[in-house]
Amino acid sequence: MANPFAKFFKLSATPLGKKSVESAVGIDIGSSSIKVVQVSREKEKLVLATYGELAVGPYADLSIGASASFGADKLISIVSDLFKEAGVTAVTVAFSIPLKSSLILVVEMPDLPLEALAQAVPIEARKYIPVPIAEVVLDWQPLPRERQNFANVPVGEKEKLPKTTDPTLKGVHVPAQKIEVLLAAIHKETIALYQKLAQGLKIEPRFFEIETFSTLRSVVSPSDRAPVAVIDMGASSTKMTIVEGGMVKISHTIGKGSQDVTGAISKSLSVDFAKAEEIKRELGLSRRGVEADTLSVAVTPIVEYIFTEANRVIVNYQRRYKRPVDRALLVGGGALLRGAPDIAVRRLGLDVAIAHPFERLNSPPSMSRVLEEAGPSFAVAIGLAERLLLDA
Ligand SMILES: Nc1ncnc2c1ncn2[C@@H]1O[C@H](COP(=O)(O)OP(=O)(O)OP(=O)(O)O)[C@@H](O)[C@H]1O
Ligand SMILES: [Mg+2]
Repeated sequence: MANPFAKFFKLSATPLGKKSVESAVGIDIGSSSIKVVQVSREKEKLVLATYGELAVGPYADLSIGASASFGADKLISIVSDLFKEAGVTAVTVAFSIPLKSSLILVVEMPDLPLEALAQAVPIEARKYIPVPIAEVVLDWQPLPRERQNFANVPVGEKEKLPKTTDPTLKGVHVPAQKIEVLLAAIHKETIALYQKLAQGLKIEPRFFEIETFSTLRSVVSPSDRAPVAVIDMGASSTKMTIVEGGMVKISHTIGKGSQDVTGAISKSLSVDFAKAEEIKRELGLSRRGVEADTLSVAVTPIVEYIFTEANRVIVNYQRRYKRPVDRALLVGGGALLRGAPDIAVRRLGLDVAIAHPFERLNSPPSMSRVLEEAGPSFAVAIGLAERLLLDA
């Protein structure tokens, strides 16, 4: 089945499809750590060749778990360390683009023929993109009609829908009916940085893709028709997507992440960030240890905040589209926090599961436990590697 997440940003020096790839690497440059996954194709199977993660904090004199950003030269040396450590050998790669330097949006547009829409979309996009349109790469796609919220507008009511006032569309027949268009934009600066990085590492990037799409590929099946909420609990923020029938319907960033949990532990227990990070990973909200109450008072409000916000987005979605969200999937290193899924269940009132994206790859059975635990952190990198091998 065609992968609905594959369309976005096929920006590549070597376009996909030209040369079949046998082994490829997905590279996810997260705010607190870089993740790589090398996958090979053996007959019709995707096989995990190697994977690795490197915390970036120490490269900026910060602790493990802390966020840091770097210029191209520093990044070359960090990723090169990681490649060595993980034993990466393939040179065909793909990079994820952080959601914070991109934009995913569903906008309402007049129901125009595709050519007219192609003219109208960049004009509409200007309203939402806070930088000059020339500084971004834009991609878009009309969402399937049957899944739009106006699909059920009763006959006679359609005329009441707002008409476009866009002067550039003057002379074009603008029907009252609207459609939804998925809009995605990447800042060119980020692509330029990763291109430099690739040059320095002597690797060949085949494409750049907003991290959201990579994650969805590795954790949601396109045949999954019911709406699913995917919640990526990263270090600096929590990224939430509602996907339905293989299409992104909402992308939302919640401004708190797992490093805020570490910060709160550090403050309440008067320990440095590194120690707090250790405590967080070991105990979380497990209610073990002498400091369980203090820990709970520090950590719970942040996790509650994240899932209360997530719930607000889900409720809005359900109200707008009149369809229940079926379940929530947690990804990102923050999903490993002990006790976090319980709070998610309470706040969201949904079936909640931690994603296990390594499941999609063949690997030795003896590694299954380790891979299950590591899985949530590698969702982005796995999604990239999958597209590299499946689209080629
Ligand atoms: N076992 C664990 N228990 C609790 N938290 C954990 C665990 N392992 C990792 N984390 C936390 O997960 C976060 C890192 O997750 P992830 O690698 O998904 O983030 P990132 O990709 O670097 O950040 P972002 O997506 O915001 O750019 C860190 O804050 C780290 O402390
Ligand atoms: Mg991340």
